[in-house]
Amino acid sequence: MAVAGSETRFPTTPSFRLDGQKALVTGASKGIGRAIAIAYAEAGADVVLAARSLPEMEATVDGLARKGLKARAFALDVTDREAVRAMVAKHGPFDILLNNAGTNIREPFLEAKDASVDALIDLNIRAAFTVAQAVAQGMVSAGRRGAIVNLSSVNGHVAGINRSVYTATKHALEGLTKAMAAELGPHGIRVNAICPTFIETPLTAGVLSDEAFMARAVRAIPLGRIGQVEDIMGAAVFLAAPASGLISGASLLIDGGMCCL
Ligand SMILES: NC(=O)c1ccc[n+]([C@@H]2O[C@H](COP(=O)([O-])OP(=O)(O)OC[C@H]3O[C@@H](n4cnc5c(N)ncnc54)[C@H](OP(=O)(O)O)[C@@H]3O)[C@@H](O)[C@H]2O)c1
Repeated sequence: MAVAGSETRFPTTPSFRLDGQKALVTGASKGIGRAIAIAYAEAGADVVLAARSLPEMEATVDGLARKGLKARAFALDVTDREAVRAMVAKHGPFDILLNNAGTNIREPFLEAKDASVDALIDLNIRAAFTVAQAVAQGMVSAGRRGAIVNLSSVNGHVAGINRSVYTATKHALEGLTKAMAAELGPHGIRVNAICPTFIETPLTAGVLSDEAFMARAVRAIPLGRIGQVEDIMGAAVFLAAPASGLISGASLLIDGGMCCL
Protein backbone atom coordinates (compact mmCIF):
# COMPACT_ATOMS: atom_id res chain seq x y z
CA MET A 1 0.00 0.00 0.00
CA ALA A 2 1.32 3.48 -0.93
CA VAL A 3 2.26 5.70 2.03
CA ALA A 4 0.25 8.98 2.05
CA GLY A 5 2.25 11.75 0.36
CA SER A 6 4.82 9.36 -1.16
CA GLU A 7 5.63 9.41 -4.88
CA THR A 8 4.05 6.54 -6.79
CA ARG A 9 5.09 7.67 -10.29
CA PHE A 10 8.62 6.62 -11.32
CA PRO A 11 9.80 9.24 -13.87
CA THR A 12 11.69 8.29 -17.03
CA THR A 13 14.55 10.53 -18.18
CA PRO A 14 13.40 12.21 -21.42
CA SER A 15 15.48 11.34 -24.47
CA PHE A 16 18.62 13.23 -25.47
CA ARG A 17 18.36 11.64 -28.95
CA LEU A 18 16.92 12.96 -32.20
CA ASP A 19 15.96 9.68 -33.89
CA GLY A 20 13.32 10.07 -36.59
CA GLN A 21 13.70 13.89 -36.64
CA LYS A 22 14.48 15.88 -39.77
CA ALA A 23 16.89 18.74 -39.10
CA LEU A 24 17.96 21.72 -41.21
CA VAL A 25 21.35 23.29 -40.37
CA THR A 26 22.25 26.53 -42.16
CA GLY A 27 25.86 27.60 -42.52
CA ALA A 28 26.85 23.93 -42.35
CA SER A 29 29.88 24.07 -44.66
CA LYS A 30 32.33 24.92 -41.87
CA GLY A 31 32.82 25.97 -38.27
CA ILE A 32 30.02 25.70 -35.72
CA GLY A 33 27.30 24.78 -38.24
CA ARG A 34 29.31 21.87 -39.65
CA ALA A 35 29.98 20.54 -36.13
CA ILE A 36 26.31 20.76 -35.15
CA ALA A 37 25.24 19.01 -38.37
CA ILE A 38 27.57 16.16 -37.38
CA ALA A 39 26.21 16.18 -33.80
CA TYR A 40 22.61 16.04 -35.03
CA ALA A 41 23.37 13.12 -37.37
CA GLU A 42 25.18 11.29 -34.56
CA ALA A 43 22.13 11.85 -32.34
CA GLY A 44 19.98 10.07 -34.95
CA ALA A 45 18.51 12.93 -37.01
CA ASP A 46 18.17 12.98 -40.79
CA VAL A 47 20.17 16.16 -41.48
CA VAL A 48 19.96 18.65 -44.33
CA LEU A 49 23.09 20.82 -44.58
CA ALA A 50 22.73 24.19 -46.33
CA ALA A 51 25.31 26.85 -47.22
CA ARG A 52 26.86 28.30 -50.39
CA SER A 53 29.89 25.95 -50.55
CA LEU A 54 28.56 22.60 -51.76
CA PRO A 55 31.86 20.61 -52.02
CA GLU A 56 32.73 21.18 -48.32
CA MET A 57 29.26 20.01 -47.25
CA GLU A 58 29.42 16.98 -49.57
CA ALA A 59 32.67 15.96 -47.86
CA THR A 60 30.88 16.11 -44.49
CA VAL A 61 27.93 14.11 -45.87
CA ASP A 62 30.38 11.48 -47.18
CA GLY A 63 32.06 11.28 -43.77
CA LEU A 64 28.69 10.78 -42.09
CA ALA A 65 27.63 8.17 -44.66
CA ARG A 66 30.81 6.20 -43.88
CA LYS A 67 29.55 6.03 -40.27
CA GLY A 68 26.11 4.88 -41.51
CA LEU A 69 24.50 8.25 -40.72
CA LYS A 70 21.93 10.14 -42.79
CA ALA A 71 22.60 13.58 -44.29
CA ARG A 72 22.18 15.54 -47.52
CA ALA A 73 23.68 18.84 -48.67
CA PHE A 74 22.17 21.65 -50.72
CA ALA A 75 23.73 24.87 -51.98
CA LEU A 76 21.78 27.80 -50.55
CA ASP A 77 22.44 31.52 -50.09
CA VAL A 78 20.25 32.30 -47.08
CA THR A 79 20.08 36.00 -48.03
CA ASP A 80 18.10 34.98 -51.15
CA ARG A 81 14.58 34.94 -49.70
CA GLU A 82 12.93 33.16 -52.63
CA ALA A 83 15.65 30.49 -52.68
CA VAL A 84 15.16 29.91 -48.93
CA ARG A 85 11.39 29.56 -49.28
CA ALA A 86 11.73 27.23 -52.29
CA MET A 87 14.32 25.05 -50.51
CA VAL A 88 12.22 24.71 -47.34
CA ALA A 89 9.07 23.97 -49.39
CA LYS A 90 10.91 21.31 -51.40
CA HIS A 91 12.90 19.58 -48.64
CA GLY A 92 10.76 20.30 -45.54
CA PRO A 93 8.85 20.06 -43.35
CA PHE A 94 11.56 19.99 -40.72
CA ASP A 95 11.33 19.06 -37.03
CA ILE A 96 14.51 20.95 -36.08
CA LEU A 97 16.15 24.14 -37.34
CA LEU A 98 19.66 25.19 -36.37
CA ASN A 99 19.61 28.78 -37.60
CA ASN A 100 23.35 29.29 -37.71
CA ALA A 101 24.52 31.08 -40.90
CA GLY A 102 26.08 34.36 -39.81
CA THR A 103 29.23 36.41 -39.88
CA ASN A 104 31.11 39.36 -38.41
CA ILE A 105 32.96 42.36 -39.82
CA ARG A 106 35.21 43.93 -37.18
CA GLU A 107 35.28 47.75 -37.37
CA PRO A 108 35.32 50.52 -34.75
CA PHE A 109 31.85 52.06 -34.36
CA LEU A 110 33.10 55.45 -35.60
CA GLU A 111 34.42 53.88 -38.82
CA ALA A 112 31.79 51.21 -39.58
CA LYS A 113 30.97 51.34 -43.30
CA ASP A 114 27.44 51.39 -44.72
CA ALA A 115 28.27 48.22 -46.66
CA SER A 116 29.24 46.41 -43.44
CA VAL A 117 26.06 47.53 -41.68
CA ASP A 118 23.94 46.36 -44.64
CA ALA A 119 25.77 43.02 -45.01
CA LEU A 120 25.55 42.11 -41.31
CA ILE A 121 21.89 43.11 -41.00
CA ASP A 122 21.10 41.23 -44.21
CA LEU A 123 22.75 37.95 -43.11
CA ASN A 124 22.54 37.95 -39.29
CA ILE A 125 19.00 39.37 -38.97
CA ARG A 126 17.01 39.35 -42.24
CA ALA A 127 18.17 35.94 -43.44
CA ALA A 128 17.86 34.39 -39.96
CA PHE A 129 14.30 35.76 -39.83
CA THR A 130 13.39 34.43 -43.29
CA VAL A 131 14.81 30.95 -42.64
CA ALA A 132 13.08 30.70 -39.24
CA GLN A 133 9.77 31.94 -40.64
CA ALA A 134 9.81 29.53 -43.60
CA VAL A 135 10.72 26.54 -41.41
CA ALA A 136 8.14 27.47 -38.73
CA GLN A 137 5.43 27.89 -41.39
CA GLY A 138 6.27 24.38 -42.63
CA MET A 139 6.14 22.96 -39.09
CA VAL A 140 2.76 24.57 -38.37
CA SER A 141 1.25 23.47 -41.73
CA ALA A 142 2.40 19.90 -41.12
CA GLY A 143 1.28 19.95 -37.47
CA ARG A 144 4.82 19.21 -36.28
CA ARG A 145 5.94 20.13 -32.76
CA GLY A 146 9.46 21.31 -33.57
CA ALA A 147 12.53 22.94 -32.06
CA ILE A 148 14.34 25.98 -33.42
CA VAL A 149 17.78 27.03 -32.18
CA ASN A 150 19.11 30.45 -33.17
CA LEU A 151 22.90 30.84 -33.14
CA SER A 152 23.37 34.07 -31.20
CA SER A 153 26.53 35.10 -29.31
CA VAL A 154 27.76 36.52 -26.02
CA ASN A 155 27.35 39.74 -28.02
CA GLY A 156 23.61 39.11 -27.81
CA HIS A 157 24.08 39.89 -24.09
CA VAL A 158 27.09 42.20 -23.82
CA ALA A 159 28.87 44.58 -26.18
CA GLY A 160 32.08 43.76 -28.02
CA ILE A 161 34.74 46.34 -28.89
CA ASN A 162 34.93 46.85 -32.69
CA ARG A 163 31.77 44.74 -32.92
CA SER A 164 28.99 47.33 -32.68
CA VAL A 165 27.07 46.15 -35.74
CA TYR A 166 27.56 42.47 -34.83
CA THR A 167 26.44 43.25 -31.24
CA ALA A 168 23.32 44.97 -32.60
CA THR A 169 22.46 42.02 -34.87
CA LYS A 170 22.90 39.43 -32.11
CA HIS A 171 20.76 41.50 -29.69
CA ALA A 172 18.11 41.52 -32.44
CA LEU A 173 18.35 37.74 -32.69
CA GLU A 174 17.79 37.49 -28.92
CA GLY A 175 14.62 39.57 -29.32
CA LEU A 176 13.49 37.44 -32.25
CA THR A 177 14.06 34.29 -30.18
CA LYS A 178 11.75 35.59 -27.43
CA ALA A 179 9.08 36.79 -29.89
CA MET A 180 9.11 33.48 -31.77
CA ALA A 181 8.95 31.50 -28.53
CA ALA A 182 5.88 33.53 -27.49
CA GLU A 183 4.04 33.14 -30.82
CA LEU A 184 5.06 29.58 -31.68
CA GLY A 185 4.62 28.06 -28.19
CA PRO A 186 0.88 27.45 -28.75
CA HIS A 187 1.88 25.38 -31.83
CA GLY A 188 4.18 23.24 -29.70
CA ILE A 189 7.29 24.77 -31.28
CA ARG A 190 10.17 25.64 -28.93
CA VAL A 191 12.62 28.43 -29.80
CA ASN A 192 15.91 29.00 -27.99
CA ALA A 193 19.25 30.72 -28.53
CA ILE A 194 22.84 29.57 -28.04
CA CYS A 195 25.39 32.25 -27.14
CA PRO A 196 29.02 31.23 -27.53
CA THR A 197 32.11 33.15 -26.54
CA PHE A 198 35.15 32.99 -28.90
CA ILE A 199 35.13 29.62 -30.66
CA GLU A 200 37.99 28.56 -32.94
CA THR A 201 36.47 28.47 -36.44
CA PRO A 202 37.39 29.89 -39.86
CA LEU A 203 35.49 33.06 -38.79
CA THR A 204 37.80 33.72 -35.83
CA ALA A 205 41.05 32.30 -37.25
CA GLY A 206 42.35 35.80 -38.11
CA VAL A 207 41.81 37.51 -34.74
CA LEU A 208 42.77 34.47 -32.67
CA SER A 209 46.11 34.22 -34.49
CA ASP A 210 46.94 37.63 -32.96
CA GLU A 211 48.71 36.61 -29.73
CA ALA A 212 47.76 39.79 -27.85
CA PHE A 213 44.10 39.39 -28.83
CA MET A 214 44.12 35.71 -27.82
CA ALA A 215 45.68 36.55 -24.42
CA ARG A 216 43.02 39.21 -23.78
CA ALA A 217 40.25 36.79 -24.81
CA VAL A 218 41.52 34.04 -22.48
CA ARG A 219 41.86 36.53 -19.60
CA ALA A 220 38.21 37.52 -20.09
CA ILE A 221 37.03 33.91 -19.65
CA PRO A 222 37.04 32.58 -16.05
CA LEU A 223 37.52 28.99 -17.28
CA GLY A 224 40.76 30.22 -18.89
CA ARG A 225 40.37 29.02 -22.47
CA ILE A 226 38.55 29.91 -25.64
CA GLY A 227 36.04 27.44 -27.08
CA GLN A 228 36.20 24.65 -29.63
CA VAL A 229 33.25 23.58 -31.79
CA GLU A 230 32.84 20.52 -29.54
CA ASP A 231 31.82 22.92 -26.74
CA ILE A 232 28.69 23.84 -28.73
CA MET A 233 27.64 20.39 -30.00
CA GLY A 234 26.08 19.01 -26.79
CA ALA A 235 24.07 22.17 -26.09
CA ALA A 236 22.71 22.20 -29.65
CA VAL A 237 21.57 18.57 -29.35
CA PHE A 238 20.05 19.18 -25.90
CA LEU A 239 17.99 22.18 -27.06
CA ALA A 240 16.62 20.16 -30.01
CA ALA A 241 15.86 17.00 -28.01
CA PRO A 242 12.90 15.91 -25.84
CA ALA A 243 15.21 16.38 -22.80
CA SER A 244 14.62 20.16 -23.09
CA GLY A 245 10.86 19.80 -23.68
CA LEU A 246 9.75 22.74 -21.47
CA ILE A 247 12.62 25.07 -22.37
CA SER A 248 11.59 27.85 -24.76
CA GLY A 249 12.64 31.49 -25.09
CA ALA A 250 15.88 30.70 -23.26
CA SER A 251 19.32 32.02 -24.15
CA LEU A 252 22.10 29.62 -23.20
CA LEU A 253 25.51 31.21 -22.63
CA ILE A 254 28.42 28.95 -23.59
CA ASP A 255 31.09 31.36 -22.47
CA GLY A 256 33.21 29.79 -19.74
CA GLY A 257 31.73 32.32 -17.31
CA MET A 258 32.73 35.39 -19.41
CA CYS A 259 29.46 37.25 -18.90
CA CYS A 260 29.70 36.86 -15.09
CA LEU A 261 32.51 39.42 -15.00
N1 LIG B 1 33.17 31.53 -33.91
C1 LIG B 1 32.81 32.26 -32.88
O1 LIG B 1 33.63 32.67 -32.04
C2 LIG B 1 31.35 32.60 -32.68
C3 LIG B 1 30.97 33.10 -31.43
C4 LIG B 1 29.65 33.43 -31.21
C5 LIG B 1 28.71 33.26 -32.20
N2 LIG B 1 29.11 32.77 -33.42
C6 LIG B 1 28.08 32.61 -34.45
O2 LIG B 1 28.07 31.28 -34.89
C7 LIG B 1 27.65 31.22 -36.26
C8 LIG B 1 28.69 30.43 -37.04
O3 LIG B 1 29.94 31.04 -36.87
P1 LIG B 1 31.29 30.32 -37.31
O4 LIG B 1 32.34 30.82 -36.40
O5 LIG B 1 31.08 28.88 -37.48
O6 LIG B 1 31.49 31.02 -38.74
P2 LIG B 1 32.23 30.49 -40.07
O7 LIG B 1 33.31 29.55 -39.72
O8 LIG B 1 32.55 31.71 -40.85
O9 LIG B 1 31.04 29.71 -40.80
C9 LIG B 1 29.92 30.44 -41.23
C10 LIG B 1 28.99 29.54 -41.99
O10 LIG B 1 27.91 30.35 -42.48
C11 LIG B 1 27.78 30.13 -43.87
N3 LIG B 1 27.27 31.31 -44.56
C12 LIG B 1 27.78 32.56 -44.57
N4 LIG B 1 27.05 33.35 -45.39
C13 LIG B 1 26.07 32.56 -45.89
C14 LIG B 1 25.00 32.78 -46.80
N5 LIG B 1 24.80 33.98 -47.36
N6 LIG B 1 24.18 31.75 -47.10
C15 LIG B 1 24.37 30.52 -46.54
N7 LIG B 1 25.35 30.26 -45.66
C16 LIG B 1 26.19 31.27 -45.36
C17 LIG B 1 29.17 29.75 -44.34
O11 LIG B 1 29.10 28.94 -45.49
P3 LIG B 1 29.37 29.43 -47.01
O12 LIG B 1 30.44 30.46 -46.97
O13 LIG B 1 29.74 28.13 -47.67
O14 LIG B 1 28.05 29.95 -47.47
C18 LIG B 1 29.65 28.89 -43.17
O15 LIG B 1 29.17 27.57 -43.31
C19 LIG B 1 27.48 32.67 -36.71
O16 LIG B 1 26.12 33.02 -36.60
C20 LIG B 1 28.31 33.44 -35.69
O17 LIG B 1 27.85 34.75 -35.52
C21 LIG B 1 30.40 32.44 -33.69
